[in-house]
This record gives sequence, C-alpha cells and structure tokens, in this order.
Amino acid sequence: HRHLLGMANLLPHEIEQLLDLAEAEVEVSRRRDKKKSVLKGRTQINLFFEASTRTQASFELAGKRLGADVMNMSVANSSVKKGETLLDTAMTLNAMRPDVLIVRHHAAGAVALLAQKVGCSVINAGDGAHEHPTQALLDALTIRRHKGRIARLTVAICGDVLHSRVARSNILLLNALGARVRVVAPSTLLPAGIRQMGVEVFRDMREGLKDADVVMMLRLQRERMAGSFVPSVREYFHYFGLDAEKLSHARPDALVMHPGPMNRGVEISSEVADGPQSVIEEQVEMGVAVRMAVIQALLPGLGSNL
Ligand code: CP
Repeated sequence: HRHLLGMANLLPHEIEQLLDLAEAEVEVSRRRDKKKSVLKGRTQINLFFEASTRTQASFELAGKRLGADVMNMSVANSSVKKGETLLDTAMTLNAMRPDVLIVRHHAAGAVALLAQKVGCSVINAGDGAHEHPTQALLDALTIRRHKGRIARLTVAICGDVLHSRVARSNILLLNALGARVRVVAPSTLLPAGIRQMGVEVFRDMREGLKDADVVMMLRLQRERMAGSFVPSVREYFHYFGLDAEKLSHARPDALVMHPGPMNRGVEISSEVADGPQSVIEEQVEMGVAVRMAVIQALLPGLGSNL
C-alpha cells in the first residue's frame, strides 16, 4: 500500500504531479455539484489523536466529495480513554477493512509506525513536530496559483520553527522545488542543525523579510513548551509578530500565509491577517483540493499514481 508520510520521501516531479492533480480539483470544489464518484464503495477513516479544525474537516470533505464513505473516529469518546494503545486502536479499525486511514498523532514517527502494521494506505495528518505533508502541499498550491511557480521565490518562514511540523514539511517541499528558504526566529525557537536543512537563518524580522515573495507565519505552540522557555506574548509580538510595518520590508506583492489556527496579536496582527496580502482563507480552500488529490493518488486502481 502507498502512504504519504512526509515530504522527505517525495521527488520534485511527484510533488508537481500532486499539485497538478490538486489544481484540477479546485475547479471541482467550485462547482455547484461538488460530488464525484471515483471513491464509491471505498472507506476512509479519520483518526485524530490531536485537536484539528482545518485538517480533519478538509479530509472529511475531500473523501465525501470523491464519493467515499468517511468515518471520523472520535478519539475523545473512544476506548483510547480506557487505555487502548495507538497500535491496538489502529489494528481494530484496520480489521474493518478501510481503504485509507488519515492519522494525526502527538508523537513524531507514530504515523509511520502505524503504516507498517495496517493493510491500507495511510496519510500523515501531522505527527508531533515531524511532518504535516498535506499542509506543505496546500501551501505550495496557494503560492503557485499566485506566483505561477515556486522556483527562485524567496520564502520567509517565521516564528516557532522548533515545534513546527508545518515548517519542516514546507522547508523540504520548497527546497525540492527550488525556492530560496529563510527561517526567521529567536534562537530559542530554532532546532539545532536547522541550517543543514538548506535554509538561511535570521533572528531579525526586518532583515529576514527583506524582499521576500512569501511571508509564512507559524503559530507560537505554547502547549508544546511545558517546562521550557515560554516567551512573554507582548515581547514576542514586539520582536516577531507580523504587523504592517514589518511586512513593509517584504516585496509589495508578498503573500502573507498562516497554516492556522492563528493567535491574533501573538504571531500576527489582525490588520495583516485580514489585509489585502493575506491568502490565509485561500490556503484553507486549497486544503480540500490537495487532500482530494492525495487520496486519489494513493489509492490503487483510480488511474492516477504518485
Ligand atoms: N493547519 C492545521 O493543521 O490546522 P488544524 O490543526 O486546525 O488541522
């Protein structure tokens, strides 16, 4: 079975192919009748051990628009609460013969482990601070639709890179397609060895944003900071929050992106989040199209392959 566990496993032409497939699904998603039947008779299970609004909702809609039966496993009300393990939970659902499992888990590597055990395709919907591949694909689709390409664009990824699976997947994808990737963050929120991922590192927003084509903000993940350094919100916004003045250092046509959920007034001001350069809502729309493309690409017998 084919899985999508991370961007690390994909070649540039495979990424481009997924983006092309997703582009076609954007048109489907804008029709009055959004329903296709390619996944008629197939079963998709969404298994989310961590909270989600965008990813879970868009995977559910993607599966339904393709004609699949989609089941959302409610982990909060499941036997996980009685102590059942991740693998036992997954094997129980696997016994019901799904065709695809969509999994989010708080531990890096948990989704890959599960993929080795089950008898169906698995898509990583976010595993700890490791990867969130469909987020990187929807971000790339959004950028490509506005800029026409990814190659040679300067993309500044700003904020809590340390805890961000979104940043990791985006760095891998953007580098694979030939973008110039910068990260802008305080040292305390950068992983050791980040330069080895092929990025330029800045600790000052105005320098890091200078002439950028895309400004990608990250959520300050305070829930992952227990016991370690937790910056004061006011100080963080002052130095690293995106406001109109800091944004003015990027190119005038720079896109402002955020994967959501946003902390308004922490990493981004409302003025910028809701402003003319923001494509944040469009990112959400692209999420459905990208997930439709990925599910179809992974499932055998649908005529499109990765
Ligand atoms: N961007 C993203 O993964 O959002 P959710 O956590 O709401 O799914």
